[in-house]
Amino acid sequence: MKKQLITSALLYVNGLPHLGHLVGCLLPADICARFQRQRGRETLFICGTDEHGTVSEVGAAQEKMPVADYCKKYHDRHADLYRRFNLSFDFFGRTSSDQNKEITYRIFHKLDENGLIEEKTTKQVYSPDDDRYLPDSYVIGTCPYCGYDRAKGDQCENCTKVLDPTDLIHPRSVLSGSSNIEIRETKHLFLNLPKMESELSNWIETKKGVWPDIAYSIAKKWLKEGLRERGITRDLKWGFTVPKAGFENKVFYVWFDAPIGYIGITKEWADAVPGRSWEEWWLNPDNVNHIEFMGKDNIPYHTISFPATLRGTREGWTEVGFLKGMNYLNFAGGKFSKSAHRGIFLDDALTEFPVDYWRYWLIANAPESDDASFTFDHFAATVNKDLNDVLGNFINRVLKMTSNNFGTVIPPMGPVTDAETDLYAALDTLVADYARYMENLEFRKAMATLREIWVSGNNYIAKTEPWKVVKTDKAYAGTILNTALNLIRLFAQMAAPVMPETAEKMLALVGEPADFVWPTEKMATYLTTLPAGRAFLPSDPLFSKITPERLEELKVKYKETES
Ligand code: MF3
Ligand code: ZN
Repeated sequence: MKKQLITSALLYVNGLPHLGHLVGCLLPADICARFQRQRGRETLFICGTDEHGTVSEVGAAQEKMPVADYCKKYHDRHADLYRRFNLSFDFFGRTSSDQNKEITYRIFHKLDENGLIEEKTTKQVYSPDDDRYLPDSYVIGTCPYCGYDRAKGDQCENCTKVLDPTDLIHPRSVLSGSSNIEIRETKHLFLNLPKMESELSNWIETKKGVWPDIAYSIAKKWLKEGLRERGITRDLKWGFTVPKAGFENKVFYVWFDAPIGYIGITKEWADAVPGRSWEEWWLNPDNVNHIEFMGKDNIPYHTISFPATLRGTREGWTEVGFLKGMNYLNFAGGKFSKSAHRGIFLDDALTEFPVDYWRYWLIANAPESDDASFTFDHFAATVNKDLNDVLGNFINRVLKMTSNNFGTVIPPMGPVTDAETDLYAALDTLVADYARYMENLEFRKAMATLREIWVSGNNYIAKTEPWKVVKTDKAYAGTILNTALNLIRLFAQMAAPVMPETAEKMLALVGEPADFVWPTEKMATYLTTLPAGRAFLPSDPLFSKITPERLEELKVKYKETES
């Protein structure tokens, strides 16, 4: 079995993450990492913040801070939020680290040696009043096609035409508003993607039907349009200085060193403890399966530019084995917007509900094959039904019935009937299905199956009616409740990748340690494992329902109705 290297896209450090970011890459990556570990596989889960580029310079200027301090401040915020969401990174690092600089330089030099780096003169917008070059999107003006007066220099939002800043009428700087704009000629370095086009195209073809459709089709679309040379340098101050004569006053483009950040952050992880090796993960393609998670806008970079960057070195880097691309999660049909205070950001989410409510809802409704939408109605319905009525209610009833009739100890197994053997058979199938969906990263199907697994517990109780049996046949009542307590253990293990906190509590209820281990035995054995006579805890309800009043309050507070 290969080692599993799992990465989530590295979010820009300047923005505060919302639920869409969480479900777009971080959470599915975490669930995958937890599942892989639970299956006993050697796993490394890497993430971090993407810190270079204009957005960091501008953000720092707005807060009147040095860029490095600004990045550190927001890096720490991201790290704190993710810790509170129980994201189980082995290391959460930074693209601005020394380690990433070292790897970025190494890769750049190899590409240059191999003749894949070209020099070209380009025209760039310079703003003397801002004392800087402006990226295209920081120049606004009137669209020559539709007359919209806030069109950006890369694209008009109104008519969607792709623009050059020089197309704009009355161009001005987004930063200072100054219309004193110059076009200057400057030299930049480019990665020669056309030279690698056929190689990339052959490689992508092998992913047809293997990767999710969205990943394959976005890569294909780029290849079809024909690859162009990609600029890898910028006229900024913040970033890695370009180590080449004549380019010392420029830095690498953020999208050049960001994905290399996966490697740089792995080196941060390795450097933190003697004996760890980053090369074992990144220069070991035969023994490592790299699984990447990202939103769809990131797919071109991870299917074309980054693979070309690694391949062009001819050093044998580990390349992506499986790419899980996600669509967008919207908020009540519209976009999340920090400036308009619309949507739910991670810090808000944590103040409203326990983390597992969010983790469960998000992954059960993940935007896998299409964009999805968050609404509080749907969220409340899911929490009330799946978590309270199905899972929570089962646990409460079983613990209560057992303690009322046998005391707070696990009753002995009595005779086994068809009801139990049917349950074993049904669960053998469901657990195998669930494992397969998790393995294939089909999250919605996996969560529907997890729910079916929980439902099987309720069905079993409804069918065997222990509250009646206990009056006539105490030995068989023991079988039912013993089985049901074993089901709590099974349900916890199944829920563990998604709801780790809840799973731990469930295991504690039946006196089990917080070890997440995937069942390997058949259910006939697995569901007769807990020792009779072991004390269990009286139940405190694990979940509580969201009342209609609370629901209305939330909708108003988060402006759900204004879209
Ligand atoms: N910062 C980018 C975003 O938030 C993602 C970069 S992924 C990386 O969209 F791997 F390239 F870092
Ligand atoms: Zn327009």
